[in-house]
Amino acid sequence: MSDDARAPDPSLLLAVESSCDETGIALIQDGRRILSNVVASQTALHAATGGIVPEVAARAHLRWIVPVLDQALSDAGATLDDVDAVAVTYGPGLAGSLLVGINFAKTLAWVHDKPLVGVNHLEGHLYAAWLRDADGTGPVEPVFPLVALIVSGGHTFLVEMRDHLTYRLLGQTVDDAAGEAFDKVGRLLGLPYPGGPAVSRSAEAATRHDAEFPRAWLGETYDFSFSGLKTAARRTIDEARRDAGLPVGAGAGAEPEARLPDAMTAELAWGFQDSVVDVLVTKTIRAAEATGARSIVLGGGVAANTALRARLANEAEALGLPLIVPRPALCTDNGAMIGAAGARRFAAGERASLGLDARPFLPLALPAVAGRR
Ligand code: KG4
Ligand code: ZN
Repeated sequence: MSDDARAPDPSLLLAVESSCDETGIALIQDGRRILSNVVASQTALHAATGGIVPEVAARAHLRWIVPVLDQALSDAGATLDDVDAVAVTYGPGLAGSLLVGINFAKTLAWVHDKPLVGVNHLEGHLYAAWLRDADGTGPVEPVFPLVALIVSGGHTFLVEMRDHLTYRLLGQTVDDAAGEAFDKVGRLLGLPYPGGPAVSRSAEAATRHDAEFPRAWLGETYDFSFSGLKTAARRTIDEARRDAGLPVGAGAGAEPEARLPDAMTAELAWGFQDSVVDVLVTKTIRAAEATGARSIVLGGGVAANTALRARLANEAEALGLPLIVPRPALCTDNGAMIGAAGARRFAAGERASLGLDARPFLPLALPAVAGRR
């Protein structure tokens, strides 16, 4: 059977994502082919404050959502009349940001008389693995059963999927998300916002690979913890700054001339990244072996990290398992991933009413009870 024959309805889905700091709208054909995928990023806006201010994020969504829709329709060569259904993220995320997308999608659905589907943002990150380009090209197809590691600025979890739209949560972070830890350590090192890509770039330049940071294994669980690592990183960076005669404390190192030398920054960035990658990869591989997975999926913004992709690819290959990682632009928040998940939900018969509301703490799945399969 061809990919298209297996692809779910509807034939043209308009998908809206606004849960955090990216305004994304995509047009998805046959449930998985990206006709257009426009993202207005607020990164530059939030760089001034070094983090997201929810009210500022919501206002920026309002400012950009109509131009993003216009661009998405024009890129796809489509009009709203061509659209069969509208999908929108309704959680988890920032309430004010979610509401902008939800109200926009509801209005489109109501005015143009189209069915509406509510999508869980986390399910979107998972379904990015099934996306294909307009001409049908893309990574290999994920095979069930699979384990998926989703690592983003707000979430870090490991889940087992034995079929579409069913999840067994194997583990999740008990404190910070992996991306949040990258962002905080980036700030401590005086690197530009957002910290993740900056730490990753700095680590790649490291020539010495002997900085040692702790790993939180949390026994045999599949849970993660990054707050201890963050504290250890702060202590090590403060020590290095003191040794270099630089000021220590909140805000120190923000100016380029007050930063540690590049070589030392790179070594510390590498040590921190190595700790995160080691724990993420080790637990994912252990979960894949324990559940008899036939493929591994990696997603979320931190999946853009080269070291994580490379190490997981190596270890998956050693097990003979395909690793599916969407390209970086599909790993960070975007409308196409919401379209891929929304099309599955639509094909399963799900419809949302115009009463659809934001669910800022919407979970993907409840944690697995120990020992249960
Ligand atoms: O999925 P995403 O766009 O938004 C959320 O749903 O959170 O993920 C954003 C996160 C940020 O914390 C960012 O620093 C991190 O992904 N990130 C990276 C890299 N690129 C983005 N972290 C490590 N290495 C990268 N190359
Ligand atoms: Zn996300």
